[in-house]
Amino acid sequence: MEPALNPYSPGSGLQPPFLAGREGEIEAFDLLLARTKLQYQGRGMILGGLRGVGKTVLLNKLRGMARHHEWLEVKLEARPGAAGSIDNRKTLARELQVAARRFTTSSYAGEKFKQMLRTLTSFSLSLGAQGISLGVEADLTRAGTGQIEIDLRDLTEDLARAMRTLRRGFVIFIDEMQDLDNELLSALVTAQHHAGQEELPFYVVGAGLPNLPSRLAEARSYAERLFDYRVIGTLEAKEAIDSFQIPAGRAGQEYSPEALEVLLNVSGRYPYFIQEFGSAMWEAAQESPFTDVDAEIASKIGLQRLDSGFFPSRWDRATPRERQYLTAMAQDGEDGSSSSSVATRLGTAVQNLGPTRAQLIGKGLIFSPDHGRVAFTVPGMSAYIERQHFAD
Ligand SMILES: Nc1ncnc2c1ncn2[C@@H]1O[C@H](COP(=O)(O)OP(=O)(O)OP(=O)(O)O)[C@@H](O)[C@H]1O
Ligand SMILES: [Mg+2]
Repeated sequence: MEPALNPYSPGSGLQPPFLAGREGEIEAFDLLLARTKLQYQGRGMILGGLRGVGKTVLLNKLRGMARHHEWLEVKLEARPGAAGSIDNRKTLARELQVAARRFTTSSYAGEKFKQMLRTLTSFSLSLGAQGISLGVEADLTRAGTGQIEIDLRDLTEDLARAMRTLRRGFVIFIDEMQDLDNELLSALVTAQHHAGQEELPFYVVGAGLPNLPSRLAEARSYAERLFDYRVIGTLEAKEAIDSFQIPAGRAGQEYSPEALEVLLNVSGRYPYFIQEFGSAMWEAAQESPFTDVDAEIASKIGLQRLDSGFFPSRWDRATPRERQYLTAMAQDGEDGSSSSSVATRLGTAVQNLGPTRAQLIGKGLIFSPDHGRVAFTVPGMSAYIERQHFAD
């Protein structure tokens, strides 16, 4: 097919041509927007899932909805590590300053808006994020202690109070939320809790790896009841079929049922893989309807592409020692391994592997779904490792 017309979009955070299977989350967020308008409380949302399932594109979709309703909204992509934690705070302050600028005009002359800008200015000062003037003096008695938990609570309170007068809300979208440091994570949970008690329309909507809910619960035990937790994963068969068919259909092309069958299997109905194999199908097909023979060729092209991009971009980040660890894990397949069985396979004690395990978690290659367990962050990683092993 004509390469320039290829409708699929394999990549990171690239809006898919057809966003399948996320109606539940979209409806839940729509409800939050509607309830806020009626001055009812709602809950923030946490989207948890493996790499490449579509968390970022869903978060962006929800963000678009908040924008459409003219909420005060900011998005932060959390960065890990010590440098990341300073950066995350500054980015938050800066993004808030940018977002709040539209409330500096004379249409928002009320006292609550003035206070919102004064508190935000103070918050930014205390985080060392100056530069964008909101045209008011800082109120140093609000959000100016230098203690993020208190400051964030003051800040979200004053911002949400102002937004409530407009029957709109204030939302912080956070991608890669598992990478936030404990202090900021706890502060956000506390602020969310406080807003609920004060009946203020402030919400955190976060996306991250499947261990994010447990990270939140560790930060504050009440986090469990604070958010609407959603697992973002593989698509249902019907949704996966739509993801393949609808974009092709819009370009006037179609799949034979046999071709679809092949691609449903090889993609495992994972959103990223669907885009990769759909794109390969477009390249392989000579005419429409696409045949199963074309689909077999597309499977090979797609797999080769994953094996030369998606998987090695992770594998190559691991040291030899870490690769041994990953290889030992691969025997258990997709469901993850217990740390102790990995240790047994490597002929050593669990404690000796602690640093390797921590480094792999730090690099985002594995995560701990439960106490004493580890799993790959990427679907299909164990099969990739086995394939490689076989090739060696
Ligand atoms: N609902 C969906 N239907 C079809 N394709 C989708 C869907 N959601 C995402 N995709 C596609 O999947 C790919 C990955 O999406 P995205 O980057 O949002 O995943 P992610 O979960 O944020 O991954 P990571 O954890 O690596 O950041 C993109 O190519 C995107 O177009
Ligand atoms: Mg993402």
